[in-house]
Amino acid sequence: MSNIAVLAGDGIGPEVMIEAKKVLNTIAKKFKIDINTQDYDVGGAAIDLHGNALPEETMKGCQQADAILFGSVGGPKWANLPPTQQPERCALLGLRGHFDLFCNMRPATLQPALSSLSTLRNDISEKGFDVLVIRELTGDIYFGEPKGRKGEGDEETGFDSMFYSRREVKRIAHLAFQAAQKRNNKVTSVDKANVLATSQLWRQVVEEVAVEYPEVSFEHLYVDNAAMQLVRDPNQFDVMLCPNLFGDILSDICAMITGSMGLLPSASLNSDGFGMYEPAGGSAPDIAGKGIANPIAQILSAALMLRYSLNQDEAAQSIEDAVTSALDNGVLTADLLPSNQRQNAKTTSEVGDYICQIIENKCI
Ligand code: NAD
Ligand code: IPM
Ligand code: MN
Repeated sequence: MSNIAVLAGDGIGPEVMIEAKKVLNTIAKKFKIDINTQDYDVGGAAIDLHGNALPEETMKGCQQADAILFGSVGGPKWANLPPTQQPERCALLGLRGHFDLFCNMRPATLQPALSSLSTLRNDISEKGFDVLVIRELTGDIYFGEPKGRKGEGDEETGFDSMFYSRREVKRIAHLAFQAAQKRNNKVTSVDKANVLATSQLWRQVVEEVAVEYPEVSFEHLYVDNAAMQLVRDPNQFDVMLCPNLFGDILSDICAMITGSMGLLPSASLNSDGFGMYEPAGGSAPDIAGKGIANPIAQILSAALMLRYSLNQDEAAQSIEDAVTSALDNGVLTADLLPSNQRQNAKTTSEVGDYICQIIENKCI
């Protein structure tokens, strides 16, 4: 029996999580996998109910689980709380830090058949792309201390500290090269070594690690150039190895060039293989409560959970294939359609239902 802690969170989180749970139920029946899901409060919703974005019961549930399926947290209602109490920092960064989930994988794929969904020009999108962003997730300016504010009036300053240790860079770099060995043997390491000391260390350590993988081709790119190259020709990339902050930004670009923020899943793993799985996008307050959010990133995050935490590769693949069928057959939420075709958009639950049907009806 695999125990999954389900933390739906805020905004569209609960809406897309319902669909991911439907898909998990369907896949569990189909593949005869014993999955037990347990819901826990997190984020703004947990602040409203318990006065804390990451209640003790939620943390305990996560500690006892085999994996965490996470929705999204945050929103305008809680944005003005003191930083350490905010849903994003307290709950999301709290969980990433507590479980040492240093390896965040964000696979962004555009199959040529679906090139019309991309925001890229046709001649670029029709080549397709398959990029794996490997983002370091527990270091960098996100976690560096000191951070805060001091002083008054015009002299008031806000400050954050950007740190990387050799150990932190080494462990994520090894995983990037190992991932590339299973893919197309190319790593692009992203930094800002022309300005930042952390990036100079990053670059040096990644180079040392690269020597151990001579068959993997390897390059460095400055982050500004990397952002430009992603929209110019994403087909050139295989694995993009990124520090925390740059990986955050570049992965949003990756999401959008596959068609929508609502498509990109992610897996965050520690060195024991424990994982938390969540969409790369957020709680989308602008569309929350309307039943129109794209559930695919959440559903694909559940597929990554099956693959990495439950060792159920076939079941994961079956979900991924069903998602491709939905996209191929034009079963699309509004975010994937041009504005003059949105009247044909499917709702969140229609897309979830369609994906379940495909899984149910497919012979395995
Ligand atoms: P966002 O990712 O929530 O939304 C950006 C844009 O993408 C919006 O227009 C939104 O409608 C769209 N979008 C995102 N997911 C979508 C989906 N599944 N289907 C259709 N459209 C989708 O980013 P934001 O607006 O900057 O942030 C909103 C809140 O979410 C903030 O509080 C932010 O801190 C938080 N956030 C949380 C997470 C997380 O919990 N993992 C991640 C990112 C942002
Ligand atoms: C993400 C999000 C988070 C991050 C925020 C909400 C803290 O943007 O997972 O990409 O910056 O890591
Ligand atoms: Mn982000």
